[in-house]
Amino acid sequence: MGRRKFRYSAFGLLLLAFWILGSGCSPAGSSVHDDPALTETPAPQPETAQPSDETGRPEKPIVLGFSQLGSESDWRLANTKSIQEAAQEAGVTLLLENAEQSQEKQFQAIRSFIRQKVDVIAVAPVIQSGWEPILKEAKQAGIPVILSDRAVDVTDTSLYVTFIGSDFYEEGVKAGKYLLDKMRDAPGRIRIVELAGTVGSSPSIDRGKGFRDTIRSRADFAIVRSAPADFTLEKGKAVMKEFLQKEPEPPQVLFAHNDDMALGAIEAIEEAGLRPGKDIVIISIDGTRSAFEKMTEGKINAVIECNPLLGPMIMQAAGEIMQGHTLPKRIVPPESVFTEEMAAKEVNNRKY
Ligand code: AHR
Repeated sequence: MGRRKFRYSAFGLLLLAFWILGSGCSPAGSSVHDDPALTETPAPQPETAQPSDETGRPEKPIVLGFSQLGSESDWRLANTKSIQEAAQEAGVTLLLENAEQSQEKQFQAIRSFIRQKVDVIAVAPVIQSGWEPILKEAKQAGIPVILSDRAVDVTDTSLYVTFIGSDFYEEGVKAGKYLLDKMRDAPGRIRIVELAGTVGSSPSIDRGKGFRDTIRSRADFAIVRSAPADFTLEKGKAVMKEFLQKEPEPPQVLFAHNDDMALGAIEAIEEAGLRPGKDIVIISIDGTRSAFEKMTEGKINAVIECNPLLGPMIMQAAGEIMQGHTLPKRIVPPESVFTEEMAAKEVNNRKY
């Protein structure tokens, strides 16, 4: 028997079980959360299924083609690193392509993975729409697809085996709930500005929806400005600067769809002579170490965690698929909410 290349650990199996138990049911590309059609479906048997030894483990290394959408944020860098490290740990051969925010480049990467006859394709889709044709190409080639991080808007959900990533709608809800609590006694109209992520991306769409659905209960909460800032620090700073220049008076609240944009906004707020976290309440999403450091300084008030460390789950799923196992359609990592009061205690525990 050849040397086994895909290693399973008790930890990996435990993690999978834990995440499955904690998983939600939101379909890809939507914030509808209870579609029974999207619960368990059997993974299609890949045409290139690996032969197994007597333990059921594959003998040849699994080849995984991964189309990463870019490198726009600290979250994204941590996500890429997690996938690279997990592939190495699992003995998976990883073909990684960075699409630099271009859906077209993602299509090219997937076509190249198909030509190379990889065993499994994983993709972190930059935007939500337009995926049906390319996913059909992968299906016709008999290559199973794992969606990583972001959702796609497809009617035929058999085009992917599983979607491993955060519940972005829920993250928006958590941000809204924090704000409702923080401002419960605040008098008068509360003016909120929003830094959204990449236009058409599932985190931006779903976080925005979750937040709006939650704050709707307070008629005096108003989102006075909202604009995309592409999940980057530079754009976050530029767009926040514009908000501050255009608004007749500073807003009381900033909701940033990620930490990098919040960090950029903090610079703009300070340059305008205002105190982030005091004059303007700041709520952000991701939970990077840099954001935690700002929380310890009182410059961010709350961070909603979005877990980028998806590598072990993706490798585990790839291994399960190659063995013909059934996977849940949706796997959601456990995530928390951290407030400025908790930051000092937690900052050194941050892994990204
Ligand atoms: O898709 C996840 C989002 O993309 C993260 O919140 C953001 O930081 C990243 O760029």
